[in-house]
Amino acid sequence: MIFYREIDLPDGRRCILRNGTPSDAEQVMANFIKTHAESDFLTSYPDEILFTVEYERDYLKRKTESVGEIEILAEVGGRIVGTAGVDGYRAYRKLRHRCRFGISIEKDFWGLGIGRALTESCIECARKAGYTQMELEVVSDNKRAVSLYKSVGFQEMGRNPLGFNSDINGMQEIIMMRLLIS
Ligand SMILES: CC(C)(COP(=O)(O)OP(=O)(O)OC[C@H]1O[C@@H](n2cnc3c(N)ncnc32)[C@H](O)[C@@H]1OP(=O)(O)O)[C@@H](O)C(=O)NCCC(=O)NCCS
Repeated sequence: MIFYREIDLPDGRRCILRNGTPSDAEQVMANFIKTHAESDFLTSYPDEILFTVEYERDYLKRKTESVGEIEILAEVGGRIVGTAGVDGYRAYRKLRHRCRFGISIEKDFWGLGIGRALTESCIECARKAGYTQMELEVVSDNKRAVSLYKSVGFQEMGRNPLGFNSDINGMQEIIMMRLLIS
């Protein structure tokens, strides 16, 4: 999917939100590694990343050409500082009404409104793609993310008390949330 939007950050800088393209692959990978090192609320660790720049290029190409999936990048001063995505369940007809949402932003750029803008942009894309329900999983201690998700309308649909087993913090409870998209 194609997407483009610009927002003003509180400090006067401009942030461009746009779909990722193959030429962004190196920067997207660098951002992925940085965000996954900075936060213990994401699913994987940087040393578990097995994909290559070539894979990332192809992934971003497929997302751009897709009618139901997108990777939106947040760019500040020419640098990718965050990403958010909508993924479908692809092959199975019984699951085609559902999509998944994921987001991560570099720590230096938290609290500037980029998370909200990326989330709202992904919801807009999911609506355009015709999904009925958007889903996500979030660690219950991730207050910043839970608060953001509730504020845009996500509702809790269940909890997994042993969702993650973190190297740093041990067992982490996961909240499953959903947003109905009309
Ligand atoms: C969670 C995350 C995406 C939020 O992005 P962000 O850019 O910091 O969020 P925003 O600045 O747009 O703030 C959005 C909302 O978050 C909440 N929030 C922001 N700062 C907060 C804080 N210090 N404490 C609690 N909630 C906070 C508020 O509800 C805020 O709403 P507002 O717009 O009315 O102020 C970002 O912190 C991040 O990438 N974290 C690491 C990775 C991660 O946890 N991803 C989610 C995995 S499920």
